[in-house]
Amino acid sequence: MSSRVNLLAPKVRMNPYPLYAELRRSAPVSQVDPGGLWAVARYADVLTVMKNPRLFSSEGIRRTYRPPWISNYPMADSMLVMDPPHHTRLRSLVNRAFGASVMTRLEPRIRELAQQLATTLPAGQTMDFVDAFSIRVPIAVLGDLVGIPPSLHTRLKQWAEVMTQFTSVGPEDTGLQERIRATVAEAREHFEQVLEERRRAPREDLVSDLLRARVDGEALTATDLMGFMFLLLIGGLETTVHLLSASALKLQEDPALMARLRAEPELIPRFIDELLRHSGPVHGVVRLVTDEVELGGARIPRGERLLLLMASANRDEAHFPEPDRFDLDRPGPQNLPFGHGVHFCLGAQLARMEARLALEALLARFSRLTLGEQPARWNISLVMRGPTLLPLAAHRD
Ligand code: HEM
Repeated sequence: MSSRVNLLAPKVRMNPYPLYAELRRSAPVSQVDPGGLWAVARYADVLTVMKNPRLFSSEGIRRTYRPPWISNYPMADSMLVMDPPHHTRLRSLVNRAFGASVMTRLEPRIRELAQQLATTLPAGQTMDFVDAFSIRVPIAVLGDLVGIPPSLHTRLKQWAEVMTQFTSVGPEDTGLQERIRATVAEAREHFEQVLEERRRAPREDLVSDLLRARVDGEALTATDLMGFMFLLLIGGLETTVHLLSASALKLQEDPALMARLRAEPELIPRFIDELLRHSGPVHGVVRLVTDEVELGGARIPRGERLLLLMASANRDEAHFPEPDRFDLDRPGPQNLPFGHGVHFCLGAQLARMEARLALEALLARFSRLTLGEQPARWNISLVMRGPTLLPLAAHRD
């Protein structure tokens, strides 16, 4: 490939997979637009980077969350932008709270919610599937995790919508900057209130568990806690929403597959794993190079940023035979859609469970999905891919 490709070009966003394949073939580590990041397209190189946080730092990208127009954004204090040993300390404290008990407590609630939601979907009528279904389950789960009651779930959704625009706001876009500042202040105020309430009266919930967590007698600080609440909001919502929307799109596209999953619901977890590999929501993850390094045949100077193209790695023919084929019988589980190494997704099990329960409920009630007349609308981002509007009709016949 001779000139730099633009990963945000509308044609690429419509379907980035042919470009990813071309990058894997002829420019596996190369600078791309916007921003001149070094895109890493092959499975083996992505893994090499994720296994070496000293040379490929997450802490190095913390400054992305500290632009001059906002004084204190809690994502900058989250473990997502930390390296060992700071990351190790925080992750072990959070692991204590985010264990199997979260799953056990949430499973019956999510099942009930998903079943109830499925009955409210209008049979045979076009709806925006994102708004009617995909977002509802993860919002309720997140609300439960961060202690925000159902009456405020619409607010929670708005906070997440505004804050996911954080990394794409331009220096001149003062309107959006102001909206983000106001949203961050409002969310912070709510979370402070929840933390204060749980300090006074602990409950059987994640926030109380986080306040109780100790490793070697050490607890999470107020800054750690706020950073983690924001990280859950940013990391736990959009990802799962896109997973559910992509699942529905796949079922619409392949009615025989939908019929098979209805007949054999025990295959749903395999469907979810293959979907995450084939069309997973996380397309890019960023790291900073701390020392000059050679990777995939390219020499990268110190201080440069890498964009690990997870969605490309997950379709690497050197690792997955016939990678573009959706194959329910592919040996699994494949975990790369959730990252690798020290930052491996804390919510992987939870996300898989949410998706399983949501799809079980949907498949139990509907036999067919069809596209509406209006086309789907896709988000524009280097790190995440999914529809923001998905007109679909669900049928019971
Ligand atoms: C389909 C759904 C999801 C996908 C594909 C996904 C993917 C990922 C990936 C790729 C990373 C690693 C980022 C990096 O290496 O820089 C990550 C980290 C993380 N995820 Fe997820 N995620 C999902 C859902 C969730 C959910 C539901 C939660 C919690 C409610 C969650 C919480 C986190 C947290 C806290 C981290 C940071 C871990 C650390 O820095 O040690 N994720 N996720």
